[in-house]
Amino acid sequence: MNIILMGLPGAGKGTQASKIIKKYPIPHISTGDMFRLAIKNGTELGKKAKSFMDAGELVPDEVTIGIVKERLAQSDAKEGFLLDGFPRTVEQAEALNGIMEELGTKIDRTIFVEVTEEELMNRLTGRRICEICGTTYHLVFNPPKQEGVCDLDGGKLYQREDDNPETVANRLEVNINQTTPMLDFYENQGVLVKVDGSQDIDEVFDDVDEILQSI
Ligand code: AP5
Ligand code: MG
Repeated sequence: MNIILMGLPGAGKGTQASKIIKKYPIPHISTGDMFRLAIKNGTELGKKAKSFMDAGELVPDEVTIGIVKERLAQSDAKEGFLLDGFPRTVEQAEALNGIMEELGTKIDRTIFVEVTEEELMNRLTGRRICEICGTTYHLVFNPPKQEGVCDLDGGKLYQREDDNPETVANRLEVNINQTTPMLDFYENQGVLVKVDGSQDIDEVFDDVDEILQSI
């Protein structure tokens, strides 16, 4: 099962991905998470990505395509994978098709999680993440039982550096410009499905799961 989760910043890609991998045994491959880990570890990749991420810009295609190609070649991705936040440009989508051909496989579905732009700003500025397990919360839409503390392991909740209003505004603009051509690309490939991402988290998952069960 080779799946792409597509959606503007804050649409709920990560939230849905964590529910999907609880039910289906496929690796969750998030380019954003890979870059954040590289920054935390001070690697060369992290140094390349940091200034772009801080500004809400896309990391250059050659860097991003390279890390995805390496990741998809690993053995745990042989039986399927869930891509989150990649591809984000038509160039990346074309490169991914090339990688699929080399690996002798194909994308089964591209699931676009659709949410209006107005809602995304609220979702992103209210997001909080557990510093231990990475579980994502929202101050209003998905609050922890105790303020500032993860329900699962008691970890402290923090705010992502790129979730301030200025960077969010640029992330939205940059991603909106790339999205329409990407939707056309996957529509033409016959694998695009859209879900209404403005519903409750569990309702969105029900729709996503229905799509996954149909593969
Ligand atoms: P990345 O980490 O992928 O960020 P993003 O695309 O901006 O998306 P987010 O992770 O912010 O949102 P999400 O859709 O995962 O939403 P979430 O589930 O957390 O990328 C970061 C940066 O890395 C990019 O800006 C770029 O610089 C670089 N990068 C990454 N990939 C790249 C690529 N391919 N090419 C080039 N550069 C790349 O939910 C958000 C909030 O909403 C949470 O608080 C959650 O609790 C809440 N929520 C979720 N669902 C619902 C719901 N249904 N109802 C109410 N609230 C909800
Ligand atoms: Mg995410």
